[in-house]
Formats: sequence, C-alpha cells, structure tokens
Amino acid sequence: TTTLPYPKANVGKAGGMPVNKVVSFTYPDSSSPCVALRMGAPVHGGVGPNKDIVAFSAMCTHMGCPVAYEEATKTLKCGCHFSIFDPENGGQMVCGQATEDLPRVMLNYDAATDTVSAIGMDGLIYGRQANVL
Ligand code: FES
Repeated sequence: TTTLPYPKANVGKAGGMPVNKVVSFTYPDSSSPCVALRMGAPVHGGVGPNKDIVAFSAMCTHMGCPVAYEEATKTLKCGCHFSIFDPENGGQMVCGQATEDLPRVMLNYDAATDTVSAIGMDGLIYGRQANVL
C-alpha cells in the first residue's frame, strides 16, 4: 500500500456534533467537500465516545455530484442520478448509477480534548488520480 502525506484536519468536538445531522468540511484540501455524521448509535468504524461518528467524501462516485444527507432514511443521496449510499455501512452503495462506495474519511478521536480529526482517506475521491494533490 502507498502511504500518502495526508494532513491532519480538525472536524469538530464530538460532543458538539448533533445526532443525525450533517457536519460539512473539506478534506484533504479545500476542493474536496466531505460530510461527517454522528449516527446516534455505534457503527462499524465509528469514532468518538459512542463510536458513532463517521465521515465521507460528499462527491458521488458516479459523476461527482454532491450527495445530500436524508435524515429520515439515514442515507446519503445523489440528486443527479439517484445513487444512494449508506453511512452506517462504510458508505456502501445501496443502489443507483454509481459503482463504487463513497470514499471514507479516516477519523481520529482524541478523548482528552473531545476532538475528531480527519487523518486520511479510504477510497479515491471522484475525479482524482490521487487523493493528495
Ligand atoms: Fe451521482 Fe450520477 S453523479 S448518481
């Protein structure tokens, strides 16, 4: 595996993240929109005191349209061609035109400061040949 020089970027305080609401940020640079979500119950790969915080690229893997979070279904949906991704399942594609899962933002949680940070990316951001430019 290749180790890219990913930056460490502050996402927010775990305690300040509302349950089932999107926290928008960019990572690993300003042209890569991402979303963090506190799901409210432990999920696979989740971080934070409740292991329920996850984050993903907000660019659909089909053609790069922005995905939007739908609270009622707890899914990330692309309005362009209706792909649906499951943040509780690693960003897995549920249905639609996309063929790849949403790239996942790797998170670190520092309990001492209650801080969630982005530290890497698993999966290729749409339109890129490498995640770190
Ligand atoms: Fe998202 Fe086509 S760009 S489904």
